[in-house]
Amino acid sequence: MVILGIETSCDETAASVVRDGTELLSNVIVSQIDIHKEFGGVVPEVAARSHIEVILPVIEKALQDAFSMTAVNSDQRATSSEQPPSDPWDQIDAIGVTKGPGLIGSLLIGVLTARTLALVKNKPLYGVHHVLGHVYANFIAPIDRGTRVWNLESGAKTPKPLASSTQSLKQWELPKFPLLALIVSGGHSQLVLFDDHFKYQLLGQTRDDAVGEAFDKVAKILGLPYPGGPSIGQAALEGNPGAYPLPDARLDSPYDFSFSGLKTATLRRAQAEIGQDYNFSSGRIAERLSEAQVKDFAASFQHAAISTLVKKTCLAYDEYRPASVVIAGGVAASPYLREKLREALPIDIEYAPGVLCTDNAAMIASLTYFESLRREPDDPRTLSVFPSLSI
Ligand code: KG4
Ligand code: ZN
Repeated sequence: MVILGIETSCDETAASVVRDGTELLSNVIVSQIDIHKEFGGVVPEVAARSHIEVILPVIEKALQDAFSMTAVNSDQRATSSEQPPSDPWDQIDAIGVTKGPGLIGSLLIGVLTARTLALVKNKPLYGVHHVLGHVYANFIAPIDRGTRVWNLESGAKTPKPLASSTQSLKQWELPKFPLLALIVSGGHSQLVLFDDHFKYQLLGQTRDDAVGEAFDKVAKILGLPYPGGPSIGQAALEGNPGAYPLPDARLDSPYDFSFSGLKTATLRRAQAEIGQDYNFSSGRIAERLSEAQVKDFAASFQHAAISTLVKKTCLAYDEYRPASVVIAGGVAASPYLREKLREALPIDIEYAPGVLCTDNAAMIASLTYFESLRREPDDPRTLSVFPSLSI
């Protein structure tokens, strides 16, 4: 079953074609990061307008890539002599689109496009959950078929390779149930235990800011560019994680998180470092910090935030003894989290490539496949968006 996935919940316009939930045929992502960078975060109206501009070319490119590239790496089918089909739509069995959570204007562009295409092309349509989608990035085989990440402003095409193309589908195994998922993105920080597909319990979640949101806010204080996760990770490489010890939130529920206190503690420590009190504007701290201090703050904050994630994931592992552990969402792209979790967990852990951890449509197509095995499609005339959809 070949699924076209469409994702527009925040600031990435993405389309992807995935076979049977696991075999990535194409993955096109147009990132608006450069546009939002100058504002230090995502501007919802700007995001929605940008989605309108690129969604149709992105879908078209994903369809083209899918059927011109399957001959390349697949060890299961297609030989190079196979002719590409005249209309890629003939190969698509269903469409999956993110229906929520996310920014309402951004979600509407994806859902209305998917509804229209489902009606015009006569394909079944599934509206799916963005956060669950992040987990399904781990169900996609790490085979490199060349994922395209475009820079919207320059229009330049920057091909970003997926993980090792030397692995074959035969060596790779699907994550096993029961499965423990640490979901960490700009909007979510959750520990979820799956007994099977769609049978899960929420063990804990953040009481306030999501961890990615805390990275983004602390980056702003330190004068580092948006998005904060990668820029803090980069600065931290040359910083001392022990330079500014930061507190760990104490919560009565063992699997809940809180990151807003950590963000404020970092702010207060930075104000103190430049000899000011809590009244000093957070927007003017960066200009008074030395480069070395910024690196030390980045390393100290990253260490505190990631230590909490690792500690709680290990606690949940010890209690529930799942057959596999996965990490999902933009923060799962963090090399520091990957390294620390691998060190702390007593089992082997495989990570999805970074480009499938941040927002993409391959994860949406994969989730749609597993949903399509279990339920009827949605009505393309009425499918709505759900900006606050919870897990
Ligand atoms: O999943 P995502 O792309 O969008 C949401 O659904 O929120 O996650 C975006 C978040 C941002 O807060 C960003 O700072 C963080 O993921 N992020 C990272 C990395 N790449 C993105 N955090 C740590 N390390 C990274 N390499
Ligand atoms: Zn996301």
